[in-house]
Amino acid sequence: MSRVRVCARSELVPGRARLVRVGGREIALVDLGEAGLRAIDAICSHAHEYLSEGEVDLEERTIECPKHGSTFDLDTGRPRSLPATQPVEVFEVTTENDDVWIEVRDGE
Ligand code: FES
Repeated sequence: MSRVRVCARSELVPGRARLVRVGGREIALVDLGEAGLRAIDAICSHAHEYLSEGEVDLEERTIECPKHGSTFDLDTGRPRSLPATQPVEVFEVTTENDDVWIEVRDGE
């Protein structure tokens, strides 16, 4: 596993997602405010669309795919509504002072 610094915590906005790149991966980093940060695969499991462009629901802890409207659970990566049926990968996020780190498997 590799832990990579992706941005400063102070750059993030609650209720918004941000696209970050770790190695060859594109990851949606989501600020859930008091519930903390989440990181999931930025690309929807249904078709090639950026979840990082989607709308975040702070109460439900979901992000909605802007293309066909599937919502994904930000804790598990599982879709909560159709048409997507496959989960997206979730990544561990940690913060240290103002630094945000994401952990990915080596080679990704
Ligand atoms: S591309 Fe995301 S739901 Fe279809």
